[in-house]
This record gives sequence, C-alpha cells and structure tokens, in this order.
Amino acid sequence: MAETRDEPLVLGIETSCDETGVGVVRGTTLLADAVASSVDEHARFGGVVPEVASRAHLEAMVPTIQRALKDAGVTASDLDGIAVTAGPGLAGALLVGVSAAKAYAYALGKPLYGVNHLASHICVDQLEHGALPEPTMALLVSGGHSSLLLSTDITSDVRPLGSTIDDAAGEAFDKIARVLNLGFPGGPVIDRYAREGDPDAIAFPRGLTGPRDAAYDFSFSGLKTSVARWIEAKRAAGEEVPVRDVAASFQEAVVDVLTRKAVRACKDEGVDHLMIGGGVAANTRLRALAQERCDAAGIRLRVPRPKLCTDNGAMVAALGAEMVARNRAASDLGLSADSSLPVTEPHVPGAHAHDHDHVHEVSKDNLYS
Ligand SMILES: Nc1ncnc2c1ncn2[C@@H]1O[C@H](COP(=O)(O)OP(=O)(O)OP(=O)(O)O)[C@@H](O)[C@H]1O
Ligand SMILES: [Mg+2]
Repeated sequence: MAETRDEPLVLGIETSCDETGVGVVRGTTLLADAVASSVDEHARFGGVVPEVASRAHLEAMVPTIQRALKDAGVTASDLDGIAVTAGPGLAGALLVGVSAAKAYAYALGKPLYGVNHLASHICVDQLEHGALPEPTMALLVSGGHSSLLLSTDITSDVRPLGSTIDDAAGEAFDKIARVLNLGFPGGPVIDRYAREGDPDAIAFPRGLTGPRDAAYDFSFSGLKTSVARWIEAKRAAGEEVPVRDVAASFQEAVVDVLTRKAVRACKDEGVDHLMIGGGVAANTRLRALAQERCDAAGIRLRVPRPKLCTDNGAMVAALGAEMVARNRAASDLGLSADSSLPVTEPHVPGAHAHDHDHVHEVSKDNLYS
C-alpha cells in the first residue's frame, strides 16, 4: 500500500533488563520482534544478575539485530531511524543497547531516538489496536513499576497519577513464587497454578484501599508479608501448603486492587478507555477482571497480546516511529543511558538536541561519551 510506505520504518533496541529485544515497525505496523532472553542464566539466582545480563546483551546484540532485519524483510539502509531504550533499567544493560544504537546510527547516518522504557510499554499497544486515543489512561504494571499514568501525547506528555509506594506488582509475583519454590520469573508460573486454585480460599489484604488512602497509589509489601506468613504458619504446623489456592488468592488480591484503582482513575478523569501495559499485563486473571470491570463501567479496554507486554524491541520501535511521525528532535550521539529516567520523560534528546539532518556532523568523540 502506497500509504503505509510513507510511514516511518524504525528499528528499536531494548536492553533494560534481561531480554535483548530488537523490533522493526513501520508506523504502527509490526514487522519483526526478535528477542533473545538470558532469563535461564538468572533462574538459579532467583533474580536478574546485572553483570550476567550485560554480557548476554553484548553477545546477543548483533545476531538479534540481523534476525530482526531479516524477519522484517528490510535492510539497515531502508531505516528512517534507530530507537533505543535510554532508561530506566539496569545501568550496564542499558549501556550495551545505547552503545549499539549509537554505533548503528552513526555508521548508517540515521537519526537516533533515546526513548523511555515505560512509555514504550504503553506505546506498544499501537501495534495491536492502532493509534492511542488522546488522552490515554494507562495502568503500567511490570517487574519494576506499578503506576497509573495519564498521557495526552505519548512522545511528550506522561503524567503519573499514582504509583507503588513499595514493591511493584511483578516484584510481588516474583517474591511469592520464590516463597512457594516455584522458580523465577514468578508471574507466569503463579498465573498457571492460580488457574486451578480458588481465588476466595484465603482473604489476603488489599493494600491502600481504605477511604483515607491515596486513591491511585499502590502497596504490595503488606500483601507479600501476609502471604509469606500464612505459608510459614502452614509449614510450621506440618501442614501441606495448598499452592494453587495460595497462588489464586494472592493473584486475586493484586489484580483486584489494580483494576479497581484503574477504573476509578478513568471515571475520575473522564477517560473512557484504559490501556494496560508491562509484563504483569500478560496475566490471564488481570486481563479477565479488567475486561469485566471495564465493561461494567462502559470503559474500553486495550491490552496488547502477552508477548508484547513483557520486554521486547518492538515496543521501543513503536515509540521511535511515533517520535519520527511527530517530528520530535532526534537524540544526539552523546546520548547517555539513565538507569532512573523518570516516566515523565518519554524521549531523551541527549546533551545537545539537534535536527535529524545534522546527525552526520556529530564528531566521533561523542560516540564514547
Ligand atoms: N502472566 C503473568 N502474570 C503476572 N506477572 C507476570 C506474568 N508474566 C510476566 N509477569 C511479570 O512481569 C515482570 C516482567 O515484566 P517486564 O518485563 O515488563 O518487567 P521489567 O522490564 O523487568 O520491569 P520494568 O519494565 O519496570 O523495567 C516480572 O515480574 C514477571 O513475573
Ligand atoms: Mg519492562
């Protein structure tokens, strides 16, 4: 289609945690989503080991880029831009992606876009359901974050309404899975066990849901402690732990609070749709309960397919393509990785933001800053 041909062709690189993701998109169309994960190398430690992740990114980077270009049926010279996660994430892991993106951008003479990982988790839904409505209400639930965000333009304006005051939702899944000896990462395995358990078997607490509590903030630390104590008590009494019921009851406590607060935020802000993004958005029960509650409240729900919810390069490419489409300034080659990049900065122009056309003029020295 001639129309689609005009849409920006962008390659996106994601290395903020343990997945080396490289995606290729044209506008809001997904062309390739190549992921190499080092998750198995971290499993025996019960969490991601930063140095192991960085080394794995380094080894996977070039082959994953080549695979993504091949899958998309394009060559590097066809690209209109290279997008990369500039933060937040593990500093060493981010550096591998940012360095690779700078090298490709410089060598190919293409504009570079340093983008925010969290905004990418939201923007990825454009690949599934088309352009995001404006404003967009987003519930972002991942391994490191749980927030309610309101965005009028995903490339420039993301406003946090509330976030977790302690653990992220994904972190709680991972910790409870560890207490139950179910391995790492915990989300997918708890999701599986919970399907055969009773969500009402144990009444675990719903954090920050009292009338005086912050309406849009979350807390999962009390829930985590409560589940761990319940399991300990069973074990101390020599009783068998009903893993499926614990998984289902814990999961219900998490998704009940998430969906309740998200629907309330939509109603309070007068937004008639909700987007859910981040790894925990892959959760079957969260998707089902969100659908049920959104239907009841007349809110349209948008959740990307599970593979696009967990970390991937396509989400970075999706946000990069949106940056190009909206004529946002490219990042300069002095772009730095920022492990604690705030969610309010979807786009990192770099030290000296400049127009795309000047990309060739940047000195080689900047590549290493
Ligand atoms: N089906 C599922 N149910 C619940 N949680 C899940 C599911 N699948 C993945 N997760 C959780 O999602 C998290 C990983 O998500 P994601 O890859 O977005 O996080 P991250 O990139 O590590 O964190 P962040 O995006 O905040 O930097 C893990 O905590 C994992 O347990
Ligand atoms: Mg993530």
